[in-house]
Amino acid sequence: MSQTLKEKIASQLKDDLIDIEEALQTNLNPYLDLVRQTAGHILFSGGKRLRPLLMVLSARACGYSGNREIFFSIIFEYLHTATLLHDDLVDDAAIRRGQPAAHAVFGNPTAVLTGDFLLARALSIASQSGLTKVIHVIAGITENLSQGEIHQLLRKGDLSLSENEYMQVIHNKTAVLIQGACRVGALIANADTKQEAAMSDYGLYVGLAFQMIDDLLDYTAQSDVLGKKIGADIKEGKLTLPVIFALQKAKPADRAFMESVLRSKNFDENEFEAFKSLLNDYGGLDYTRQQASNYVEKAKAALAELDESPSQTLLMDVADYALARQY
Ligand code: IPE
Ligand code: IPE
Ligand code: MG
Ligand code: MG
Repeated sequence: MSQTLKEKIASQLKDDLIDIEEALQTNLNPYLDLVRQTAGHILFSGGKRLRPLLMVLSARACGYSGNREIFFSIIFEYLHTATLLHDDLVDDAAIRRGQPAAHAVFGNPTAVLTGDFLLARALSIASQSGLTKVIHVIAGITENLSQGEIHQLLRKGDLSLSENEYMQVIHNKTAVLIQGACRVGALIANADTKQEAAMSDYGLYVGLAFQMIDDLLDYTAQSDVLGKKIGADIKEGKLTLPVIFALQKAKPADRAFMESVLRSKNFDENEFEAFKSLLNDYGGLDYTRQQASNYVEKAKAALAELDESPSQTLLMDVADYALARQY
């Protein structure tokens, strides 16, 4: 089902995907080869291009009739890539998109500074829109992203993290970027306030669902399909919704076992499987999927405010894909 949906979306956006790849290449413009190599290592390693595609579709769904949507859409892939460079270093992640993370190949200083370069490239491109609101949104995204990651860092290893605080973190570190991509699409299309609000809400809800599913896949996916290590979150001391929910429901003995796994950095395969079973038994996996599904419904309801069009239909499919995806 999810594969069919993905294929359907990809086939309808085939030409746009080609144009996005080309724009990502031609607009990077570093004057140092090391920056091109480091950025290229992660940029061209098989990302889904979700954020630029969302911007392009949002612009068209709001009636955009110009020819600059691909150019502006790469802002969001550069921003995303910058955060991944920084995030993998902070999370000490070894693998991204099935290959060694950039910091492991080029070293931490180069990964951090290339991330900074990409953030700056994104801002330069945004400034070319000549729209103050667009620049304002992009600046806001970078503030939120960094604070979301720092918030998460501050609460690392804390077993008392609440669902509320988790929602705040994922709002800032993930949803704001996806929301911004959709909102900027509306802005470059010169959408009215109602359309802009609808696109912004759609992006926010898709973004929240997207991160919830990422957190679910960290337990349920196949490592080779996901392109990242399974179980990375608890290894990093990162409490996510499946765990927060299951910990609340667990009987004392099970809770004690879960806490011991969460505190130990060296749990083995069997302990991880037992931990996963408890997440399942106490409903943590189902609850997370259900919450993500509720946000996808909210996203689609927001989008229903727009007139029907092929791009609006595709955005409905993308919302469903956020839930059904396997990687
Ligand atoms: C990964 O994002 C980081 C999160 C916000 C969960 P994606 O799943 O969109 O990563 P790529 O770009 O397709 O690799
Ligand atoms: C999302 O969080 C990352 C960013 C917002 C950069 P994760 O840490 O869960 O993302 P992955 O799993 O490393 O892609
Ligand atoms: Mg990470
Ligand atoms: Mg993750």
